[in-house]
Amino acid sequence: MLETQDFRDFSISSWYDLFKHVSLRTFIIELPENLIEKLSTGESDIDVEDFPTDFRDNLKNALNALNRNAFVKDNWHAPTDARMFSFGNTLKVTNVEDILLYFTTSGIIQEDLSSTRGLPFCLALKKWINIHPAAEFRCIVINNVLRGVTPRDWPTYYAHFKEEGPQIIENLSQFYNENVKLKFPRKSYVFDVVLSYPDKPFVLDFGPLNSKTNLYAFSWKEIQPLLSKDVPEDMAPVFRYIESDIGIMDEGRRLK
Ligand SMILES: Nc1ncnc2c1ncn2[C@@H]1O[C@H](COP(=O)(O)OP(=O)(O)OP(=O)(O)O)[C@@H](O)[C@H]1O
Ligand SMILES: [Mg+2]
Repeated sequence: MLETQDFRDFSISSWYDLFKHVSLRTFIIELPENLIEKLSTGESDIDVEDFPTDFRDNLKNALNALNRNAFVKDNWHAPTDARMFSFGNTLKVTNVEDILLYFTTSGIIQEDLSSTRGLPFCLALKKWINIHPAAEFRCIVINNVLRGVTPRDWPTYYAHFKEEGPQIIENLSQFYNENVKLKFPRKSYVFDVVLSYPDKPFVLDFGPLNSKTNLYAFSWKEIQPLLSKDVPEDMAPVFRYIESDIGIMDEGRRLK
């Protein structure tokens, strides 16, 4: 069960200012009351002209500033279940109608809307970037120590992980130590990073660490006991990935 504090801390409207310099350019726009009403009653034929002018102007300005190439989320989630309504399944946003289409058809957005716990419901328009699936990692932080790293494209075999694993760990540890550690207001959480050379790593998102979180290569069963365990601060994280194209994992990579 998510606590109210979880909703607050993991909302992009809470963390974006702190991590702006290491994340994608984002415009956060509060939804007007009448749009929230239409979304919560499941109304699908929504006309953008019905909304207050300042909201429409904010949206247009944000889209223009992002060169009409954006990705949209609410405070917490992307409407990934509305992917099939987008051109090429990309969820790319090029105009206001795209945003309304994804928001009205996504069950994920509906669910977030029904559990805002009093936080203003927002849309976050982010700069669009082409992300290689092998470049996305979910990092697991337990009691302020980066303990686990998993590819988000799981379970897919990527041959280069074996050779580049140590470098990936080194880069993510450095990124965590310099930019995230003790800056995010929680002790245990997950954060998603994109590592694509020669660009600098950037944070895509933060999320709670609980039984509902997708931990990809890890299981909640093995992570949960670590929450009550203290380990040296400099303990290296485990990078777990598919080690061969027949999908066998190295038993030596168990978390201690
Ligand atoms: N700015 C962007 N440009 C292009 N693609 C993006 C962008 N942001 C995210 N994506 C793609 O969309 C996917 C889902 O985005 P994101 O992780 O932000 O969603 P989420 O709802 O927070 O997911 P989860 O529930 O797993 O935390 C990412 O894995 C990434 O591949
Ligand atoms: Mg997320």
